[in-house]
Amino acid sequence: MTGRVAALSAGRWPPAAGRDPESPAHATTPIETRQAAARCTILAMLIARNLTKSYLSGGRPLTVLKEVSLEVAAGGFLAVVGPSGCGKTTLLGLLAGLDVPSGGTVVLDGHDLSTMGEDQRAELRAEKVGFVFQTFQLIATLTAQENVQVPLELSGASAEDAAARAREFLARVGLGDRGHHYPSQLSGGEQQRVAIARAFANDPKILFADEPTGNLDAATGARIVELLLQLNRELGTTLVLVTHDATLAGLAASVLRLKDGAVVDGNAPISHLPSPLAP
Ligand SMILES: Nc1ncnc2c1ncn2[C@@H]1O[C@H](COP(=O)(O)OP(=O)(O)OP(=O)(O)O)[C@@H](O)[C@H]1O
Ligand SMILES: [Mg+2]
Repeated sequence: MTGRVAALSAGRWPPAAGRDPESPAHATTPIETRQAAARCTILAMLIARNLTKSYLSGGRPLTVLKEVSLEVAAGGFLAVVGPSGCGKTTLLGLLAGLDVPSGGTVVLDGHDLSTMGEDQRAELRAEKVGFVFQTFQLIATLTAQENVQVPLELSGASAEDAAARAREFLARVGLGDRGHHYPSQLSGGEQQRVAIARAFANDPKILFADEPTGNLDAATGARIVELLLQLNRELGTTLVLVTHDATLAGLAASVLRLKDGAVVDGNAPISHLPSPLAP
């Protein structure tokens, strides 16, 4: 994004060559580590180090994510790309604290997720995170309006404010006249847009979206992309998007490319870049 910096490091952390005392990865004393972590916290909304995820498959461990490290600046925009099955959804779930890694750490807006229990992570998500699932995950027994409104009420908004905000965001995704429909009465693309309205309505500091334009035609997709960029630009919402859409990935400040669970392409670590807050 213009004027903003999103950056990431690829592969094993720390990198083998060179030692930068400003970087938490290269710090050797506890004080250096704390100082470097504090500098990173100012810059970064999201830091992941050596994330690994393994499942037991037929009694044997199957590693689907291997030592993934990345950083995203506050207000940054990272696109995660790669072929089907390479681990994109798995990575997003770990970054958002929906799932726990087998190894490695995630620091989200200064909170180390590995030190937090499930309830604490849920609270943090309710406060700071929006998530658009690849499978939408709408509640079948609630209308489109209620799917957006109820989470707002659970976050403390009054019923009146939540209803108004839900109407506003459904209108922004082009579904102003579908609020009374249940998910089963909506097309796949319409359900996806309800899921996007739900994630946006809570004004998250960071938005994770798994193929947010995957089920949309070109015109509707462009409208959703414009909404994403508007949030990023006007509200400073940090974006982490999984996408197969080359145009959408091309708009991101940084692109993380995965293959077989490992990073095959990324940029320099954020701690080596000037502050995005600097004039
Ligand atoms: N609960 C699970 N148990 C075992 N294997 C799993 C589990 N969840 C995911 N996997 C495996 O992990 C790998 C990565 O899955 P993931 O859903 O992250 O891929 P993806 O990159 O999002 O793919 P797509 O582009 O098709 O959505 C896949 O091989 C998948 O079969
Ligand atoms: Mg996926």
